[in-house]
Amino acid sequence: MTQRFDFSLNGRVALITGAGTGIGRAIAICLAGYGAKIGVHYKSSKSEAEKTLEEIKKIGSDGILIQADLIEEKQANTTVDNVVSTFGRLDILVNNAGSPVQRSKIEDCPLKLWKTVFDVNMTSAFMVTKRAIPHLRKTKNGAIVNIISLSVQTGGANGAGPYAAAKGALLVFTRTLARELAPEIRVNAVIPGVIETHHHEIFSTPERMEQYKKETPLGRNGRPEEVAGAVLYLVSDAASFTTGAVIDINGGRFLR
Ligand SMILES: NC(=O)c1ccc[n+]([C@@H]2O[C@H](COP(=O)([O-])OP(=O)(O)OC[C@H]3O[C@@H](n4cnc5c(N)ncnc54)[C@H](OP(=O)(O)O)[C@@H]3O)[C@@H](O)[C@H]2O)c1
Repeated sequence: MTQRFDFSLNGRVALITGAGTGIGRAIAICLAGYGAKIGVHYKSSKSEAEKTLEEIKKIGSDGILIQADLIEEKQANTTVDNVVSTFGRLDILVNNAGSPVQRSKIEDCPLKLWKTVFDVNMTSAFMVTKRAIPHLRKTKNGAIVNIISLSVQTGGANGAGPYAAAKGALLVFTRTLARELAPEIRVNAVIPGVIETHHHEIFSTPERMEQYKKETPLGRNGRPEEVAGAVLYLVSDAASFTTGAVIDINGGRFLR
């Protein structure tokens, strides 16, 4: 028996956090290309988020912009509420917003920085997800994808320890939610390796980026669209029996 999978997201609504830039933008545009309406969340990249929405409309879908600092509970809640009040439903949540914030060895890390890193990478996802769950449940076909980091497998090098720990928590959160929310909502994760975005303009030198290429079996760093492809699979009906799973998009840098 042959089966053709339908990746169409027509009629579905997705909230993508951090969708103004990089990986989040690529995910937003990719899902819109398959018919989803998109909540384009951003914190400070307003003009970039406007460009994301422009692209979404150009390819024939629809979306809204939502500005929020997701470490604030009220703003995390209104992010979800705005999408639901505009489109009447929420089917897909991608917790993409995240950042190392500032590099620090664990032994030197001030408590304030540690807490901020956890707020930005883990607690924000907890708050947005908690608010989204009743809506995702209603659709009977809800999907959550969390964007983790290769540092959960390698340990956080060069002062990325607090970030790695927060992303590690997000991975365990993913697995717990997969159990708690089944069968109505599937919850999965994508672990990007080195993907060329704004993130590395801040946190890696050009020399380090070249070094990463040499260390990667596929001989290059990744593109945001290559992460979006994995997210598309995980939210689609092709992944209907997949929950609690992790997809590595790293060019072979880390092999399980
Ligand atoms: N690039 C990589 O190699 C790589 C590898 C592994 C994992 N990742 C993860 O992939 C995700 C996207 O990163 P990226 O590479 O695309 O870098 P990016 O362009 O810098 O994206 C980070 C996003 O997080 C948002 N953000 C940061 N702090 C926030 C806060 N307090 N509240 C709300 N939003 C906040 C930013 O929003 P604004 O710009 O609007 O402020 C931005 O859109 C992150 O979770 C990152 O940890 C990236």
